[in-house]
Amino acid sequence: MQSKFNLLGRNLFDLDDYSTDEIVAILEATQVMKQINLRDYKKLPTLKGKTVCTLFFENSTRTRMSFELAASRMSADVVSFSAETSALAKGESLQDTVYTLNAMGIDLYIVRHSCPGSPQLVHKHSSKPVINAGDGRHAHPTQALLDIFSIWERLGSLKGLRIAIVGDVTHSRVVRSNLIGMKKLGAEVVVCGPRTLVPGYLPEIYGCEVEYDLKTALKNADVVMGLRMQIERQREGLFPGLDEYTRHYVLSKETIRWAKKDALIMHPGPMNRGIEILPEIADSEQSLILKQVANGVNVRMAILFLMLGGKA
Ligand code: CP
Repeated sequence: MQSKFNLLGRNLFDLDDYSTDEIVAILEATQVMKQINLRDYKKLPTLKGKTVCTLFFENSTRTRMSFELAASRMSADVVSFSAETSALAKGESLQDTVYTLNAMGIDLYIVRHSCPGSPQLVHKHSSKPVINAGDGRHAHPTQALLDIFSIWERLGSLKGLRIAIVGDVTHSRVVRSNLIGMKKLGAEVVVCGPRTLVPGYLPEIYGCEVEYDLKTALKNADVVMGLRMQIERQREGLFPGLDEYTRHYVLSKETIRWAKKDALIMHPGPMNRGIEILPEIADSEQSLILKQVANGVNVRMAILFLMLGGKA
């Protein structure tokens, strides 16, 4: 696979580190990976001899599994670190954990942590390329890339599309990375939810719209993305109750009619069915949700290939 962009040795902390052309190059590389995977599920030898570490301090199903699958499909060795079963439980620090793993010859780290900036810290102590797999409320760039790829592949371009993102925006790292990437590719993005879950300063930083009324937000939307209602935050009293949230903001057959006919339905997962989205929509013909998951493997293959200088 040829790419005019060399991401060799780069980090991926968030999409603001990447130019629009570089994002497009990743999308194009993803398309190639997808074609290869559809044609032949055999392992590629491209990353033979490389060792990748998934360093996860928070739970994950999609991100971790798809990174591990992506690396192993390209013949990289994968070591998998879980905070609960590691020496962290005996008091070892993040710094000493990284020194220890580095001594074993890791070539690239994939990091998830509840604390924003942890991927940068891992890079500082390892001097190895790091991919941010979700750091606190800050960023989740590979989720944004797979979301963007799923739209780009289906609709050809994001230029001029109206994308509505609905839900708990305040606590969402996915929305922040998506806002950066979608705006770079020319989409018009509106974020929607209750006032306490949608910060009013977002337009100033990201050039998006903020809307508190679902019907208005969905008007003319080409794509509607639901976000996970972070139920654990309910303790903070940011909304009166889940029933109240659902009554005003659920994505259902009834509410999705406010968007364009055949608007694409997306969700980064995990979903709270019956709270932010109903099964009638999540499992409908319009839904891209499982395609997003499948595309996650292809996107992560492309990123690992480009960052580790895989042999075509
Ligand atoms: N979308 C996402 O990050 O899912 P996981 O928490 O399962 O990785």
